[in-house]
Amino acid sequence: MQIDQDTCVFGLIGYPLAHSLSPFIHNLAFKAMGVNAVYLPFPVKPGRVSSVVNGARALGIRGFNVTIPYKESIIPYLDRVSLEAEACGSVNTVLIEEDRAVGYNTDGRGFMDSLEQEGVKVPRFAIILGAGGAARAIGYQLAVRGAITVFLNRTPERAEKVARDIARITGQESWGMSWDSSCISDFVQDAELLINTTPVGMYPDIDQKPPFVLKNLNSRSVVADIIYNPLNTRLLREAEGLGLKTISGLGMFVNQGVRSWEMFTGREAPRKLMEDRLRGLLLKNET
Ligand code: ATR
Repeated sequence: MQIDQDTCVFGLIGYPLAHSLSPFIHNLAFKAMGVNAVYLPFPVKPGRVSSVVNGARALGIRGFNVTIPYKESIIPYLDRVSLEAEACGSVNTVLIEEDRAVGYNTDGRGFMDSLEQEGVKVPRFAIILGAGGAARAIGYQLAVRGAITVFLNRTPERAEKVARDIARITGQESWGMSWDSSCISDFVQDAELLINTTPVGMYPDIDQKPPFVLKNLNSRSVVADIIYNPLNTRLLREAEGLGLKTISGLGMFVNQGVRSWEMFTGREAPRKLMEDRLRGLLLKNET
């Protein structure tokens, strides 16, 4: 890689960042497409997020991604956020143009892209496990496309709040409750899509799975996980065992990165290359 005075700098802020794969896919795409740019990890220590946007402006950084724990706390320092980021209450991409910092959220659309790539239609009725930022982003995209969603969460109050917010913003029916709730059995049969947005089952706790009884789903249901490490979570393996179609989190991760990369560069990203190389890397790590 040739670094010179024209090299554009992009990056990722979060803490800690040791295991992030974003630098890998962004730099790979810059190289493949001959874009004179570099993508760096910026592990921003707790308490320092207030300086990030001004620091990036001062250094001429054109954009950056945001990950845990700053997706919400970055918002007060931005000049504007997109409607979608506002609805999700979280930002994963910031663009700095003419000194104005604007926040976007590409997670929900990244998930919808992966549904489309897998040939799965927008469901009429979906269940989302979890009620954090990713659940909000996906729930918002499902709602604006007309899906009714039930959020099931360990902490029911959070699920109720997400459902209320989504219903208010989109006008679409949404529900939230504890994943232990006794009335779950009344509607599980109707779910066309189940999405796990919690970290339960993520490396290194790969033997865990969310406490959801998959066998109550109907045989046409699709089960998706947003975890991509491992590629095949215990939840997905069990769903496959029941003959259900499954979608791993790799597609969503690649697609949200593709959308950010395209916003950064204004060019079409080499999506297939990014996905193939990432899959190769993850499979190598699993063996
Ligand atoms: P993200 O922004 O990545 O979605 P988050 O906002 O921290 O992350 O949300 C994580 C979600 O996973 C939450 O719904 C959380 O449940 P609580 O609201 O009860 O905290 C859920 N979660 C995290 N760890 C969990 C665990 N060990 N068991 C069950 N749910 C868990």
